[in-house]
Amino acid sequence: MSKRKIFIINGPNLDMLGVREPEIYGKTTLADIKAQAEEEAKKLGYEIEFFQHNGEGEIVDELHKAYKEAAAVIVNAGAYTHYSYAVADAVKMLPCPVVELHLSNVFAREEFRHGSVISPYASAVLCGAGAYGYSLAVRIAAQKVQNG
Ligand code: DQA
Repeated sequence: MSKRKIFIINGPNLDMLGVREPEIYGKTTLADIKAQAEEEAKKLGYEIEFFQHNGEGEIVDELHKAYKEAAAVIVNAGAYTHYSYAVADAVKMLPCPVVELHLSNVFAREEFRHGSVISPYASAVLCGAGAYGYSLAVRIAAQKVQNG
């Protein structure tokens, strides 16, 4: 049977959504984002495995879990996006489609946010859509699974 789980993996400081720099990240909490993503996934016949951790190693461990179980992975690695080769290596080995996601438009921000060590291994990259980006990313992930 084909895998029906989309993993959504969130990195450091994303647990603070809702209170963290709302002018940049919006007022939607991670719990609200999880609920919205689950609703979108349900419509498409998928389940969501939703994860957030501030630690790099824990994110790598979750990516290893996704390696075995995920139909697709959506990853917002927070600041690790810009420099973590450990996260990049774990993303690189994934056999399924990967959507790299950012709430903010990283290209309109500080220069250190313009680079991503993950993007070379992503099937799609989405930024600047705020919390709505998570629902969009679920749709993109499902479409990538379907179309290979
Ligand atoms: C972020 C952008 C990163 O540069 C930042 O470090 C984050 C969040 C985003 O979703 O816009 O923590 O990934």
